[in-house]
Order: sequence, then C-alpha cells, then structure tokens
Amino acid sequence: MRSPQHELPLLAALQACGQRPHSAFYTPGHKQGQGASEPLTALLGRAALQVDLPELPDLDNLFAPEGVIQQAQELAADAFGAERTWFLANGSTCGIEAAILATCLPGEKIILPRNAHQSAIAALILSGAVPIFVNPDYDARWEIAHSIAPAMVAQALEQHPDAKAVLMVYPTYYGVAGDVQAIAHLAHQHGIPLLVDEAHGAHFAFHPELPIAALRAGADLVVQSTHKVLGAMTQAAMLHVQGNRISRDRISRALQLVQSTSPSYVLLASLDAARQQMALNGHELMTQSLSLADTARTQLQQIPGLAVLDETLASSSPGFHALDRTRLTVDVTNLGLTGFAADEILHEQLGVTAELPSLHHLTFIISLGNTPQDIDRLIHAFCTLAKADSEFKIQNSKFKTQNSATPQPPSPSPQHLTPRDAFLAPSESVAIAQAPGRISAALVCPYPPGIPVLLPGEVITAEAVSYLQAVVALGGIVTGCGDALQTLEVVKYSATRLD
Ligand SMILES: Cc1ncc(COP(=O)(O)O)c(C=O)c1O
Repeated sequence: MRSPQHELPLLAALQACGQRPHSAFYTPGHKQGQGASEPLTALLGRAALQVDLPELPDLDNLFAPEGVIQQAQELAADAFGAERTWFLANGSTCGIEAAILATCLPGEKIILPRNAHQSAIAALILSGAVPIFVNPDYDARWEIAHSIAPAMVAQALEQHPDAKAVLMVYPTYYGVAGDVQAIAHLAHQHGIPLLVDEAHGAHFAFHPELPIAALRAGADLVVQSTHKVLGAMTQAAMLHVQGNRISRDRISRALQLVQSTSPSYVLLASLDAARQQMALNGHELMTQSLSLADTARTQLQQIPGLAVLDETLASSSPGFHALDRTRLTVDVTNLGLTGFAADEILHEQLGVTAELPSLHHLTFIISLGNTPQDIDRLIHAFCTLAKADSEFKIQNSKFKTQNSATPQPPSPSPQHLTPRDAFLAPSESVAIAQAPGRISAALVCPYPPGIPVLLPGEVITAEAVSYLQAVVALGGIVTGCGDALQTLEVVKYSATRLD
C-alpha cells in the first residue's frame, strides 16, 4: 500500500484553489496576480501569485485546523517523530516565543543558555519569565560557544528547583550538538519539560550519521526552522510536541498571539512539500549532503593555512557531544585574513557566499540544495585565496588578521530588573564612559563569540564595558549599542530602584 507520506494535502488544495476559475472578492488585493505590478509578476511569475491566497473554505485555518492544514500537520508529526505538529509562518522565532509563553507565567523561572537566540530573549520580555542563565561551554581556540553542559544544567536545577522549564539550543549555528539526551533526562527528573531550539537541526531525524534528533532524545517541545536546512521557503518552520508535560492548548493560544492572522499559504504549502520530500527521500538526500560535506572538509583540510572544525573536539568539551558534518566552519587566520575579509573576497570576487563570517572563521551550510559543482567552486575559491602570491592578499589593514584571540567572555552581569520590566521602562542613551553602574535596556552582543554580554535589566559593569571595547578593538562587531560602542541604551534612573 502507498504510504500516506506521498500525499500533499495542503499543497494540492492550494493548487486546486489557484486553478479554479472564479471572480475573487477577497484579499489579497492583487487577486491572484491580476492586479500585481509588472515588475513583481516578472520577478515571481504569474503561477506564484495565483496561489497567494487567503483562508478560503477549502484551505482550512491555521489557528483552528480541521481540514487540509490538520492533515498536513499530522503527516509532518509522523515524519518528524512528534505527537503533534504546528506549522509556523513566522520562523522558529514565533515558535520559541510561543514555547516560553506556554510554559512560564510572569515571575516563573526558566533555565536557558546565555547564548540563546534573541527570540528566547523576546519571549522573556513577552512572558515576564525570569531567566536563570547557564553559560555555554566556551571554546577559546575557536572562539565559539558550544552547548550548555549537563553538569551545569544539573547545578542550575539544584539551585532553582522551582524552575518551570529548561531551554537548550541544539545544535548551535556551527553544527555542534550538546548532550540533549542527558539534559532531557535531568529536566524530567525535576518534572519539567525540555524545550529545544532545533532551528538548525530539522534534518537530524533522517540520517543516523547526523546527531540524534531532539524528539528522539526525549525533548518535550522542539522548534525547527524547516526553511534553514530543508526545502521549505524562508520563514516556514515547525513546532513539535510529545508527551504530557506541554499543554497543547496553551501552545495554540500562544501561537495565535505571535503570528499574523493572515499567514502565507505559499509558505505553509512549502512545509507540506518539504515534509513529503524528506519522508520519501530524506535518507538518500542526507547521504548526498553528508558526502558533499565530507568531500569539502577533506579537501579544505589539505589547503595550507586552513583549519576546519571537526569532531575530534567532542571528547574534550562537555558542550560538544556530536557534530553535524554538513556544517563547515573554516578558520582562515593562517592565511593572514580575517573571516570578515575572506567573506568579502569570496562573495564579491570568487562567487562563493558563506552563511556566517566571524573574526577568525566562516561557516558554510551544505544542504540538500547543494551540488558537486558548488563544492568544486568552494574548494577552488579557497585554493585561490590561499595562494602565497594571491592577488587578494592586499596589504590593507582591513584584510589583515589580528592574531591575538579575543579575551574570555566576562561573568554575567547582575540582574536588577527582569528583561520584561527593563524593556518596558523608559530608557535613555548614555556615553559608554557613563554606562557602568546603570541598567541595560538593550541586548548587547559581541561577535565573536555571539554570547550576549548585557541583557535588558542587567547592571552594566566596568568589566563588561572593557570586554566589549576589546572585541571592537580586535575587529569584532557589537550589536545592540549605538555608534560603534560610543553609547549604550540604559533604563532611566526614575524607573529603577538603584537611585
Ligand atoms: C539558534 C537559532 N534559533 C532560532 C532562530 C530563529 O529562526 P527563524 O529565522 O526561523 O525565525 C535562529 C535564526 O537564525 C537561530 O540561529
């Protein structure tokens, strides 16, 4: 018998609605492309606009699904190993916000990594939950924050037995997977759920050589950016739940709060298609991706001056349990270039564009969309870049690497207000020299290593300021501050209890 995974209930319904001859008196205003501007039609094609449709009777409703969306979500739950799946039209961002809103009431504690994605910080602001931060395992050689270590989670749970949930990022942007099984076990011993930000791991369920999928490892709630690594369109994501620690009703209500009431059916149908593709061919597609990535890794490692992040670190770092081999992080320091400079040259002159440049390295995502030609071009580009007489090794300070490593991140600043209270308080901009002692109104994060130094509500320490200045002096970037770290946004004295 043909597997139900061949079906495409949502995509097929959208296609049928798009083709049905009728006069449209509903949104969107372009009416299946009839009124769209010519440049837009030329860009997207009439076919794409024809299926840009709203909640017509045959298309079900994302917030009360009982037709084709429900069927498509059930097939996705089955394919990804969940008991229930929600399609998201606003990325993992809205899934993570909903996950925290559904599990923590104002004033309740959640244990999470210091380097959680900004959507988790947004969720703290929205929910009023109190963060108990766990520092991720930090690799000073690579200037990369890995996962949180199980021992650190155990300590946080012991110190805060009233915590309502644990959140972990699995895998990190660099493809490093923490010990999700051990952390799920710890959370469950304390009777609370493990929420997993698996934005970069939607492919894990489909190949045994990839790190174990968080749902298989026992996570209660998992959010995946289906668009980041699989075939769905940008912003299309999924939230999966299993077990009885998460209220399905609260998830549905929270998702209604953080998503548009007019979700794009094109995005939702792309989730249906991505699920079918993986359910039918996932193993084969991931075998190909792993093989392309392994070829690239082996050849890049042979180019003098390059180093590629690999699994040998797994045994020595408590936050590095496994590596997703389809992520390639390439250190270019010994080419005499910064990662930012290498990125600029690769992108502008050699036809290769990375996902994430940093001070010393660049990260590349190899997915089901890559071809052997892409890998050839990547290797050729690095060979060109690495040549001793490379025309790209311009004697310009911008292109020169800073050999000194960025200093060790400072200890977290004391929290004086909850992120929510700080965010909602009146704020003002002050010169950096006047900032120590004030309360941050913003999330201030240096890259590298992408671990926030200040979160809304935390006291700005002199140590935090000098660390941020050191990162900038070495060529790094700081987000969440004004004018290249000349100013910081702080809570006005009148709104704090420090005055
Ligand atoms: C670790 C992590 N979590 C969550 C997100 C948010 O995902 P999305 O872009 O699908 O909203 C990102 C995006 O880069 C991310 O890197």
